[in-house]
Amino acid sequence: MNDKTKITDATYGNDLSGLKLDKNKTYNASEVYFYEAQNILKASIDYLSTIPNKKSAPFDYDFFLKLHKEMFGDVWDWAGKMRIVELNFGVKAYLVNAEVKKLADDLHFWKSNKSFDTIEIAARLHHRAVAIHPFLNGNGRWSRMLANIYLKQNGLEPTKWNENLLAKKNIHRGDYIQALKQADNGNYKPLIKMQGNMINK
Ligand SMILES: Nc1ncnc2c1ncn2[C@@H]1O[C@H](COP(=O)(O)OP(=O)(O)O)[C@@H](O)[C@H]1O
Ligand SMILES: [Mg+2]
Repeated sequence: MNDKTKITDATYGNDLSGLKLDKNKTYNASEVYFYEAQNILKASIDYLSTIPNKKSAPFDYDFFLKLHKEMFGDVWDWAGKMRIVELNFGVKAYLVNAEVKKLADDLHFWKSNKSFDTIEIAARLHHRAVAIHPFLNGNGRWSRMLANIYLKQNGLEPTKWNENLLAKKNIHRGDYIQALKQADNGNYKPLIKMQGNMINK
């Protein structure tokens, strides 16, 4: 594959406006992904190297946005800002704000009422977050990180998603997308299995 090919992902294509890297250089998809990965690594160290407390990871509306900014803010100027454009995935742009708030409320409800066990809550959080698709890009990596921080905060190990530099080449990607689609239809079992690292062992 030619590296200059478009990032033909679910959403944002290869629009490089908003890129905070050197404006005088051109970057291909892999290079951008690499800078994003470096940025995300910093966020992983911040949140996952010790057990994140409620103060640093309160799982409220502001934290949801802040985490995206921490993961992508070195690379994109729209990091942490909810999109105002329509994508071919996710809820309508005018609903994003309300849906993110609702997710924060639902998460709080699930936890305080023990509606589901911790892995299922993480899977539901991940699925709902990515189904909303609040941002122009990075929604998948952000929603998996959210779930991982949740797991870690609640005494479990983060899920190993086999992230690689271009996730669409990941051999488990097809199964993963299928699991998300099944969750869309109310069947969370496949995603829970993956979220709990119970697959491919
Ligand atoms: N057909 C689909 N059904 C459900 N979820 C999908 C589908 N396609 C993509 N996704 C989710 O959206 C993510 C891609 O969205 P994107 O904003 O590009 O995130 P990232 O840039 O982190 O990969 C995937 O990782 C997956 O979580
Ligand atoms: Mg993407």
